[in-house]
Amino acid sequence: MRVYDLILKKRNGLTLSKEEIDYLITNYVMGNIPDYQMAALNMAIYFRGLTKEETLNLTLAMMDSGDTVSLKDIPGIKVDKHSTGGVGDTTTLVLAPLVAAAGVPVAKMSGRGLGHTGGTLDKFEAIPGFSTDLTINEMIQAVTHTGVAVVGQTGNLVPADKKLYALRDVTATVDSLPLIASSIMSKKLASGADALVLDVKTGDGAFLKDLDEAIELAKNMVEIGQGAGRETVAVITDMDQPLGKAIGNSLEIEEAILTLRGEGPSDLEELCLVLGGHMLYLAKAVDNVEEGMETLRKLIHNGSGLKKLKELIEAQKGNGNVVDDLTLLPKATNRVSVKSTTSGYIHKIKAESVGIGAMKLGAGRETKDSIIDLSVGLTLEKKVGDQVEIGDEIAIIYTNDDVNSNKVQDAYKMILEAYIINGERIERPKLIKGFVDKQGVNTY
Ligand code: URA
Ligand code: CA
Repeated sequence: MRVYDLILKKRNGLTLSKEEIDYLITNYVMGNIPDYQMAALNMAIYFRGLTKEETLNLTLAMMDSGDTVSLKDIPGIKVDKHSTGGVGDTTTLVLAPLVAAAGVPVAKMSGRGLGHTGGTLDKFEAIPGFSTDLTINEMIQAVTHTGVAVVGQTGNLVPADKKLYALRDVTATVDSLPLIASSIMSKKLASGADALVLDVKTGDGAFLKDLDEAIELAKNMVEIGQGAGRETVAVITDMDQPLGKAIGNSLEIEEAILTLRGEGPSDLEELCLVLGGHMLYLAKAVDNVEEGMETLRKLIHNGSGLKKLKELIEAQKGNGNVVDDLTLLPKATNRVSVKSTTSGYIHKIKAESVGIGAMKLGAGRETKDSIIDLSVGLTLEKKVGDQVEIGDEIAIIYTNDDVNSNKVQDAYKMILEAYIINGERIERPKLIKGFVDKQGVNTY
């Protein structure tokens, strides 16, 4: 096989066979195919697309490029959840213990934050003592015993994606649906869950601004999941604003605890119930999604979700008392009120700008090696649909820096600019836009 011929074939719109795709991925990871040839292939894929079968074959080849995790030793159907990118997306912190409280095992492998997006591992590490540094065997032990564990990626999972993603990032080929779908799904399949619930974000703050494109990505990923023998559902959700109020590591742990107490922001609770309802359904713990949502609502109100969070924290060496005493979490020393400079209705809160604002405050990483401050961040005190007057507090900054420092002033400006306000009245946006399962697309 000559790589040149395979690039030509794709450039001309023909279909690559499984053997050809396996050859390309295997040899690229081994260093036998140079970046310039892979870049040309990616660009051909960007313009020509991939068939359903090619997308599945690419995903499986990527999955097999490194280690894969087996969760077979944990009894029951293991369901994982993935979001296509969030700012202040606190759902995993709520869902992992809540779904486990319903008796469905959750083995959650998570990552760290980079740029404007946060990472679940960083958030959990805001809990004093909490360790995410478990081996695969320790994770399996923890899930078998407690029903849930949240750990960092161990082993060499999907090296093909690390290499390909870095290449796409510098060659304008990130936003190709089959390349996004295979990138996400190869990592999810490698981490071993039997079934998968995807949260596909759409809107201004998402990767895919357009609803039709988000649905198309969802369809691609569901087809891959089903093709790989893992039941997969994708829920399409609005990202015209960040979810909940809190953005920042310790602040989001606090928000998750409040949500598990039944005192959280309504949009965050709603999304947790919908995603969790699908998770329970895929785990065959309930007969339909609505019953799953009802089950989870009860587990919030009778305190079982919060109790499970405490068990999870203690099993991972953290101070479980945080669930009852929020003052045990790291707190920033200064708070700055962000005041509206216009009056009207909030139409959008640009998630990316808010995320960059939080990063500038030190809640996120500018580069992989940046040191983050777990205590800092911001809360959105007004959300889309709310009416505001000039001078109203729309957000609060939590910082350990001087409130007049450039850092804080820059963040202030970013947050203020993230709010799109005008005189026209607007309804609260619908959070859940629809879902895609093996039967097809359902929009609301
Ligand atoms: N997230 C991923 O993991 N991969 C992509 O290609 C895009 C988003
Ligand atoms: Ca949040």
